[in-house]
Amino acid sequence: MRAFRKAESKDTNMTAELINGKEIAAHVRQQVAAGVEERREKGLRAPGLAVVLVGSDPASQVYVGNKRKACEEAGILSLSYDLPADTSQAALESLIDELNENPSVDGILVQLPLPEHLDADPILVKIRPDKDVDGFHPFNIGRLVQRRPELRPCTPAGIITLLDSVNTPYKGQHAVIVGASNIVGRPMAMELLLKGATITVAHRFTKDLAKVVGEADIVIAAAGKPGLVKGEWIKPGATVIDVGINRMADGKLKGDVEFEVAAERAAYITPVPGGVGPMTIATLLENTLFAANELHND
Ligand code: GUN
Repeated sequence: MRAFRKAESKDTNMTAELINGKEIAAHVRQQVAAGVEERREKGLRAPGLAVVLVGSDPASQVYVGNKRKACEEAGILSLSYDLPADTSQAALESLIDELNENPSVDGILVQLPLPEHLDADPILVKIRPDKDVDGFHPFNIGRLVQRRPELRPCTPAGIITLLDSVNTPYKGQHAVIVGASNIVGRPMAMELLLKGATITVAHRFTKDLAKVVGEADIVIAAAGKPGLVKGEWIKPGATVIDVGINRMADGKLKGDVEFEVAAERAAYITPVPGGVGPMTIATLLENTLFAANELHND
């Protein structure tokens, strides 16, 4: 599927094709809805996703709200657990135990970041790997590293769907990932390695980021720093994926890439918003359906 358009604007010299994440995500969500319907026709239960939110961080509330709504639209049962900000580690861990045992639950998602007093690591390790639809459990990360992915972290897997949509050749290409987080940068490197690309992961200690980015055929910007990647660094004809969702003082969202200039040089580029963000949610739904179909035989 190719869901992009030649971006046209009288005000810029933009030559890149825009990779329309919103449109591609909508297509993926329709496919998930069709898969859920197929289960229903076979007399199987709807897949279930438990979404756990601790506290009332406004950005997390928006993300979690979007995830729950997307589930319902795809026919996935959404179970909501909104816990107070002062929830104890033990109480959260016992909720995970309960959800691990619940046969209606195919996926468990604990929205990050957790409040300061909670330690996320023991929580993420407690989630049963076959219900770990975020793909953050060391078991699932290990499988991805060893070329046998099962439940894959949603943002990197969604980016592969975006890159596939424009027939990215991968093999022989140099991919530069800016940012080495557990959620995006590191698993993204493993996804692209699996596809046959040559990988560089840049991070806060990288010298001469401009030079490193300038050598990339594929740039994945995932540092969480608005405008960090300058447009003039982009190699002409490169593909640019912007994972940044930075809320600016004026309320607008800005990516990690200086979009206008980058779009004059790149062959393909994702917008912010409407690029990677919608794909993360669509991939979460894919993972939940996969867990129900392939990992749970009830
Ligand atoms: N916080 C930011 N991104 C994510 C994500 O993909 N999953 C979860 N659980 N929390 C997040």
